[in-house]
Amino acid sequence: MKTVNTIAEVREVVKAWKREGLIVGLVPTMGYLHEGHKSLMDAARKQCDKVVVSIFVNPMQFGPGEDLESYPRDMERDTAVCEAAGVDLIFHPEPSEMYQDDFSSFVDMNTLTGNLCGKTRPIHFRGVCTVVSKLFHIVTPDKAYFGQKDAQQLAVIRHMVSDMNEDIEIVGCPIIRETDGLAKSSRNTYLSDSERRAALCLSRAVFAGQDMVKSGERNAGKVRQAMVEIIEAEPLARIDYVQLVDFRTLEDVEVIQGPMLAAMAVYIGKTRLIDNFITE
Ligand code: PAF
Repeated sequence: MKTVNTIAEVREVVKAWKREGLIVGLVPTMGYLHEGHKSLMDAARKQCDKVVVSIFVNPMQFGPGEDLESYPRDMERDTAVCEAAGVDLIFHPEPSEMYQDDFSSFVDMNTLTGNLCGKTRPIHFRGVCTVVSKLFHIVTPDKAYFGQKDAQQLAVIRHMVSDMNEDIEIVGCPIIRETDGLAKSSRNTYLSDSERRAALCLSRAVFAGQDMVKSGERNAGKVRQAMVEIIEAEPLARIDYVQLVDFRTLEDVEVIQGPMLAAMAVYIGKTRLIDNFITE
């Protein structure tokens, strides 16, 4: 496994692979890798000849007052995780490598980004689309892997790739949870012991909502209310949003039919956590 910091080095390695006709998979990450990332790497390892992991805490997707500075970083551990997962190349650029001083082009989207996380993080998806688009141009993967935990991000990236006719297959991978249900996230490290216990209200609400839909409930308002009540019963939790939306348009639904995303963002103390479930 090789780690490179420059775009030129990535291009050189990937071009050599492509000359041999090899299939290249990309797992874009912000590092502090956990089992969720590992599952993306495993899927890429199975489906591709070569696996690239990018590790870049992208300043452009953090708004003012968000956790850009405190976002956890541990390159040594991340390198070991990638090595163990059979990754071929880590791309770990400095912000100056990705954004020159006169950087002025952005990838933005009119639909899908205004609801859910886009409501409280207005510049977030512009930053995500811009950096992911750059990574796609740099690495030129055949397939790219994203977790369903960031379900809105997954829908946005799929839409971007379709709009821009990018010849990249976007592979969505299931949410990976701790044994007690909490969805794995790099931000879980911010939680104190009592907050860690309180954070279980997210997965409890997800499982309860999921059960209601499985047992035939089609009234989105009723499912949402049951989920909200579970979260509100937890004193350390403050809801940012709990919404049931059409998974194709990300617009709110009243009746559950077709692919539906039930998504939430909840503050546990100062830490903002997300979780969701999707029904077919
Ligand atoms: O999901 C993430 O970790 C980031 O949003 C991504 C896709 C790596 C872009 O910075």
